Amino acid sequence: MNVRTSPDLLYLDRNENLYGPAPACFDALRTVGIAELSVYSRDYLRGVKSRLSERLAAELKVPEKQILLSEGSEDMLKQVVHCYVGPGEKVLCPSQSWWYYQTVASEVAGETVTFPLREQGDRFVYDADEIISLYQRESPRVVLIASPNNPTGNSFPDADLRRLTEAFRESIVILDEAYWGFADESNEHIAELVGQYRNILVLRTFSKYFGLAGARVGYAAAGASLTRLAKFSSRYLGYNRVSEVLALAALDAPAHYAAMRERMMEDRRRLYEFFDARPGSTCFRSDANFVLVRVPTGSSAPLHAHLRTAGIVVKLFDEKEFPDCLRITIGTREHMNRLLNALNDFVRTGNA
Ligand SMILES: Cc1ncc(COP(=O)(O)O)c(C=O)c1O
Repeated sequence: MNVRTSPDLLYLDRNENLYGPAPACFDALRTVGIAELSVYSRDYLRGVKSRLSERLAAELKVPEKQILLSEGSEDMLKQVVHCYVGPGEKVLCPSQSWWYYQTVASEVAGETVTFPLREQGDRFVYDADEIISLYQRESPRVVLIASPNNPTGNSFPDADLRRLTEAFRESIVILDEAYWGFADESNEHIAELVGQYRNILVLRTFSKYFGLAGARVGYAAAGASLTRLAKFSSRYLGYNRVSEVLALAALDAPAHYAAMRERMMEDRRRLYEFFDARPGSTCFRSDANFVLVRVPTGSSAPLHAHLRTAGIVVKLFDEKEFPDCLRITIGTREHMNRLLNALNDFVRTGNA
């Protein structure tokens, strides 16, 4: 059976939220009927894209016109790059980041320019000065910053973000917050950023924190200058009405998600403790639902294979930026107990 679809394997390799969505989402799905399945939305008659964009606008305190909806944040990322980047134009992004950034730039024959994240003890950090000087040299059309970043897990500090956006007024700045929620649920910065910088786009998704990756719900809060993108992304026949029902139900269940986050943060700490006790290993501090782990030279492939034999799939890196590294998604408490047992077995059998 294909490894990606085996029901017996525990997949901790794609940063999915294995707690799933709030029970309220399943209840909401049971209310879906002919209106949502067979009939287009008429929300445009009220001058809005969807009940979802309306709700997000109210929560984020951003005008509805500046909330753009998409099929996952992957789709919004593709839309913005296809809308603004032409052949030979540059996209500036971290060298240690989601591989898809470079792929989407290459789709429009754009050129990717990368800046490194720096290691500082048990965490990765962005170097704002370095990014600004690269920006001045390269004049990119689009700058991409992920906070928290995948796979390093670190966030971009607020003060640096303001410095950067100030310096990058000639370009479009994409702040990818796909992993928002796992450290805290603050939203205040969005209205401030979007109000102050007309060229910023904050990308969000319901895939990670809200556990709705399969429903493909993404959105962006866009600065007032990005009108071309707003037109490009508008959909005459409306948004996916089933996804809209699910996302609205998730937004109505904050207590459920806050409790989930607490459990996940505890389990993330348990992984830090496990690897901190292993000389030669580093478990990088993360604000997301995954951790990047560096193990002693030569042991990442054996550990990956050992976990695979125990029925657990984690991500093994073969990129040069991440030698001896694995990325592990934080699953449910039960999943993490199973993972820690398998990790302890690996140590007991003399492998580490
Ligand atoms: C950094 C980052 N941004 C965006 C996404 C896209 O997620 P989605 O399209 O499900 O919203 C991912 C997916 O893993 C990601 O790692």
